[in-house]
Amino acid sequence: MYARFGGAEHKVESARGVISRAARESGDLRGKFLLAAGVTTAATLLRLAGPLVVRFGVDEGVTADDRGVVTWSAVAFFVLLSLQYVAGRAALRSVAGVGEQFLRRLRERVFRHMLSLDVGFFGRNKTGVLVSRMTSDVEALTKFVDEGAVQVITSVLMVTGVSVAMFIVDVRMALVILALLPFLLAASLVFRRYADRAYQRVREHIGQVLATVQEGISGVRVVQAYTQQTEQAEDFGQVNEKYYEANLAAARAISTYFPAVDLLRTTGLALILLVGGRRVLDGTLSFGSLFAFMLYLSWFFEPILNLSNVYNLMQAAIAALDKLFGLLDTETDVPAADDPSPMDSTEGRITMEAVRFGYDPAIPVIKRLDLEVAPGERVAVVGETGAGKSTVAKLAVRFHDPDDGRVKLDGVDLRCIDTDDLRQHIVLVPQEGFLFSGSLSDNLRYADPDLDDAALWEVCRQIGIADWVASLEDGIDTEVRERGSRLSSGERQLVALGRALVADPAVIVLDEATSNLDPEKEQAVEVALGTLLEGRTAIVIAHRLATADRADRVVVMADGEVVEVGPPSELVAAGGAYAELHRVWEASANGR
Ligand SMILES: Nc1ncnc2c1ncn2[C@@H]1O[C@H](COP(=O)(O)OP(=O)(O)OP(=O)(O)O)[C@@H](O)[C@H]1O
Ligand SMILES: [Mg+2]
Repeated sequence: MYARFGGAEHKVESARGVISRAARESGDLRGKFLLAAGVTTAATLLRLAGPLVVRFGVDEGVTADDRGVVTWSAVAFFVLLSLQYVAGRAALRSVAGVGEQFLRRLRERVFRHMLSLDVGFFGRNKTGVLVSRMTSDVEALTKFVDEGAVQVITSVLMVTGVSVAMFIVDVRMALVILALLPFLLAASLVFRRYADRAYQRVREHIGQVLATVQEGISGVRVVQAYTQQTEQAEDFGQVNEKYYEANLAAARAISTYFPAVDLLRTTGLALILLVGGRRVLDGTLSFGSLFAFMLYLSWFFEPILNLSNVYNLMQAAIAALDKLFGLLDTETDVPAADDPSPMDSTEGRITMEAVRFGYDPAIPVIKRLDLEVAPGERVAVVGETGAGKSTVAKLAVRFHDPDDGRVKLDGVDLRCIDTDDLRQHIVLVPQEGFLFSGSLSDNLRYADPDLDDAALWEVCRQIGIADWVASLEDGIDTEVRERGSRLSSGERQLVALGRALVADPAVIVLDEATSNLDPEKEQAVEVALGTLLEGRTAIVIAHRLATADRADRVVVMADGEVVEVGPPSELVAAGGAYAELHRVWEASANGR
């Protein structure tokens, strides 16, 4: 049930592909990154010089019985380490700084792009999974940028540098240590293969964990209404169990690998003592060199351990980046017009010509639709549930493009109209009016944030909510809370109508809410609708008789096709499908 990821799936790129794309897209940050890498190199070189100073202090000071050299070597060693601290700090800050800038831009780009995608995309993808792109994936990247990136650079430099330095100090001793390398490589390869799989599973399951939590929280009212808390928690338990197992497998890989590398390091120390100690006795190796080797040995293994540590961070970051790039590459199903016809004003004539559409093109939901709505005309679309009415509304505002046929505004195909112009001229008031957390005034001003207070109150008056708003303790500044949960559904509808009135479009497509209102609120909504639709072209998906009867024409849909069109009174008189609907409505709800 939770195994399927939505349409954001795409071909997984190789790590190199992802990294080179990141480099390509970082633009002016590339120079800054090179600078940061330079600082990091300097810090590493300072560190590598340390053991050489120690060797000098031991050989020319301790062995040569020169206290002055011992003191000065200690001081020099300390100064070197202090410098290394300063350089190391600068390296961390600059690399993290560049990385964070890159991430800030990336987050913005991804969110902007996500909002520009077609409505269908959000139906195909779980909100929780999309949210995980912006949270856990972004977090994986942040973690790598803050902790891992410098480590990768430093560790690679250290391993190379130490190897070279060891050969400079003593070739035979260096070869002894490098003899451990095959074992180290073998251990690392096994670890990588195992950890890769484990971490990939961790990443897959975190998306599902988030998706389940998100769904549970946003559906909490339904969950509680059906007392499904236990079942919902059990569902979560299953997802959580998988996540736990994946993490456990990853932890197992780590707990085997790291002690193994540690074992190799101690073996190395023993070898140095054995071989090096004997050579010191033979007089073929200086005391200082033995000391230096001891230091180099730990500095040889430390970065390898670090690399294995950040390897996971890096894998997670690359996978996250790959997913974010994949999201950026997702194209909208309703692409912007290449060469949009300018449309500053509109008559408001909507034409649907031989429209065929299916959410899955193989299963048409709208089989054929021909409809012309004249400027200023009000057309009601009625039909039983699932007939395709809301789909017509979505096609009229180009949330989807038809598979066949055309939807036109003033005779221009919607696909050829600039998106901003289109949204300005045609506004959809959806079945479930969504309010944003914020004040009433924020929600009403949504389409025109600069609207002044006087104009805003005028809108409230026209829509019939002025008295109600004035009676609220905080008036127009009342917080509606998330999704407008502070308001009743009738109040939410009225606010949604007010918001559309502020937008002042030529064409309104209104998907009437299905919820039943009390007669008083219903009257209020009816009046507000009258004001809103006055003088505009309107396609109203009607769920109530009152709305349908007030239209100039009624379109009756059944099973994705138009079965009747005409003025409501004529259709009632004709005794066809609409008359039948009328009869059912009147019988069931006294005409409500
Ligand atoms: N996003 C979607 N993806 C796939 N199928 C969908 C989607 N939305 C609707 N459908 C299907 O398309 C058909 C028409 O749905 P639509 O929402 O247009 O019905 P409706 O006439 O508005 O019904 P209601 O009166 O209940 O609002 C239904 O069979 C529905 O299951
Ligand atoms: Mg509907």
